[in-house]
Amino acid sequence: KNIVILISGGGSNMRALVEAAQREGWDKRWGARVSAVISNRADSAGLAWAQARGLTTAVLSHRDFASREAFDEALAALIDPHQPTLVLLAGFMRILTPGFVARYAGRLVNIHPSLLPAFTGLDTHRRAIEAGCAVAGATVHQVTAELDHGHILGQAVVPILPGDTPDALAARVLSQEHRLYPSVVARWLAGA
Ligand code: GRF
Repeated sequence: KNIVILISGGGSNMRALVEAAQREGWDKRWGARVSAVISNRADSAGLAWAQARGLTTAVLSHRDFASREAFDEALAALIDPHQPTLVLLAGFMRILTPGFVARYAGRLVNIHPSLLPAFTGLDTHRRAIEAGCAVAGATVHQVTAELDHGHILGQAVVPILPGDTPDALAARVLSQEHRLYPSVVARWLAGA
């Protein structure tokens, strides 16, 4: 079984997923391998890491396309040869079209840095602090056409501490994302 991961930036969640897959073994507990990492940005640090690791990588710049539909068609053309059992969004900062979402229905998963359904969209950590929340966290969920909605597959909760800045909270959440995402994927692959 193949997994395709889509990234835009640092790719630390992608790294956590690749390392879990390699540790758990594609022929053992995971039963799947990360067969491609695709970024919409050529300068994404995660892409360089994946290349150095010997993974198949591709860059598809959204700037080269006139519409979201055209970009998503080209993206699907890169993904489909892998016949992925899962397409994982890991810090992939593009809104996907309903057509793309439908094409991968049931096997398209995202991680979002808030406790959904609270704080969809951007700037989640600042908003959680300003709202006076006592906790924040991350959510792994199925992707539907509506942004940051879709069935919740798993969540991790972290405290918001007195004097927290958005950056400090983001770092605390991100380190939990690196545990959450691989564990949800492992559960999924095990058929739970
Ligand atoms: C993560 O916080 C993820 O939840 C959000 O963007 C960040 C990506 O970080 N969507 P990385 O690229 O995985 O390091």
